[in-house]
Amino acid sequence: MAPRRKKIYEGKAKTLYEGPEPGTLVQYFKDDATAFNAQKKATIEGKGVLNNRLSEYFMTGLTNIGVPNHFIKRLNMREQLIRQVEIVPLEVIVRNFAAGSISKRLGLEEGTPLPRPIVEYSYKNDDLGDPLVPEEYIIAFGWANQQDLDDIVALALRVNDFLTGVFYAVGIKLIDFKIEVGRVWEGDFMRLLVADEISPDSCRLWDMKTGEKLDKDVFRRDLGNLTDAYTEVARRLGVLPTNTAQIKPTLIN
Ligand code: TMP
Repeated sequence: MAPRRKKIYEGKAKTLYEGPEPGTLVQYFKDDATAFNAQKKATIEGKGVLNNRLSEYFMTGLTNIGVPNHFIKRLNMREQLIRQVEIVPLEVIVRNFAAGSISKRLGLEEGTPLPRPIVEYSYKNDDLGDPLVPEEYIIAFGWANQQDLDDIVALALRVNDFLTGVFYAVGIKLIDFKIEVGRVWEGDFMRLLVADEISPDSCRLWDMKTGEKLDKDVFRRDLGNLTDAYTEVARRLGVLPTNTAQIKPTLIN
């Protein structure tokens, strides 16, 4: 089948196509899941549909509280229209509770509350396994300057406060998450926007009462069915119908 649009970039979980107007792109959510720098791979039916909806939900919420982001509108089950940005080559991670790599690095039990939200950066480079980098490297290598980093921290903490509250309201604890940030130019001014996606692929989400994991750790650690976990998140947020019998058919395609 001939592609409808010119492919601009293919990532592990999403593909970007040329958009209908200059300065826009179409972001297509695949069902592919990877972990541990793509050493572990699977296709998980329905994941792309859920993440398209969930990212729409979070980005729209951010727009409504005045946090700039790339989202324009959802086009269909798997695609959304976004602003074209120049991605800052960093994964910006915010942690509220210890889990994952910080637990390993510092010997902290998973779930330990952190003294304050911690913002850290990984250099986006699959060949190197996205290594953790200090601000010193980021500035020295010119990936971002000090002003950008100040803006990025402010953006990341606003996203953290927003997401923490949204998840709290539905009985989910936001352990940590990752965002990516992009640049757009408006005349002579450069602005930083939240880009990429916000979904259970890039957050750690624990049920507040049971501690059950409702994020990509289900796949990373073989804890069960990932689509079921993401469907539960979507159901609680009212992003999908509450009747699960209606959910499965909508996930096909
Ligand atoms: P980490 O504990 O493995 O450093 O991950 C912290 C958070 O960032 C976790 O919610 C998963 C997310 N993350 C990504 O979304 N993509 C990545 O490539 C990595 C390493 C982490």
